[in-house]
Amino acid sequence: GRVAVFMGGDSAERAVSLKSGEAVLRALQSAGVDAFAVDVRGCLLETVKAPDFDRVFIALHGRGGEDGTLQAILSQAGIPYTGSEVMASALAMDKLRTKYVFAGCGLPTPGFRVMASIDDADTVAQALTFPLSVKPSREGSSIGIRKVRDRDELAAAYLAACEHDSLVLVEEWIEGPEFTVSVLQGRALPAIGLSTDHEFYDYDAKYLAGDTQYRIPCGLSPESELALQHLAVEAFQVVGCRTWGRVDIMQDREGEFWLLEVNTSPGMTDHSLVPMAARAAGISFEELVVKILQDTLE
Ligand code: DAL
Ligand code: MG
Repeated sequence: GRVAVFMGGDSAERAVSLKSGEAVLRALQSAGVDAFAVDVRGCLLETVKAPDFDRVFIALHGRGGEDGTLQAILSQAGIPYTGSEVMASALAMDKLRTKYVFAGCGLPTPGFRVMASIDDADTVAQALTFPLSVKPSREGSSIGIRKVRDRDELAAAYLAACEHDSLVLVEEWIEGPEFTVSVLQGRALPAIGLSTDHEFYDYDAKYLAGDTQYRIPCGLSPESELALQHLAVEAFQVVGCRTWGRVDIMQDREGEFWLLEVNTSPGMTDHSLVPMAARAAGISFEELVVKILQDTLE
């Protein structure tokens, strides 16, 4: 049947999603799949009224497309779609609640507090050890994230994060390196190690800077990489994800791993991490999108 590649959307990650979507569309077409693009703007309900497609490849990132909203609408309409279902999509979109689940399962995640108003700054500053990372809970691509060193910076960063989400997560900073583990068909692909001259792997380091370094092999010993992959798959499973995704993990100076978050609709641009990990496992971009698409049939 026909496949609609949903891309764009109205989220803050629209520009990234258009790139992901176009790359996915080209690859599906060159694999001989009858696929076309749908830029999903405005009311999501409209997209399932009299659909001229049988399946959806979700290349949307962020709110609306990655957070369970679209997944619920497609489920209700009986249209198969790629990736995780409603609950896992909604949970993974929310970094704060994801951490509650990690913590509840005894999985390692940096110490954290929620900040509901600027008045919480003192309590949060006392409860956690600086530096801290201040994040809008339900945002992607590092949008709105700041590193803070003291109480005054915390207040300013809270206000900045509030621009993106009323729910703000404050997390203890792990110096890194950062790793990411891609999951395909429920299994871990080779881990990628990330280094940047930026303070962290922020929006510019992700999409603009030419000096971000990606390590595959990731530089860990085989045993450590296996432990990292195992942790990633556990995180993926406790959040309830299915088929594919990407888990972001920090390593501290003592070598311990700390889970940051799970992404249920990771970037699929030609510079993105999942395609890079797949390539290291001998899976071309074309094969990757076909595998992700096949998983909608289960
Ligand atoms: N949110 C971006 C697209 C990612 O996780 O790759
Ligand atoms: Mg994310």
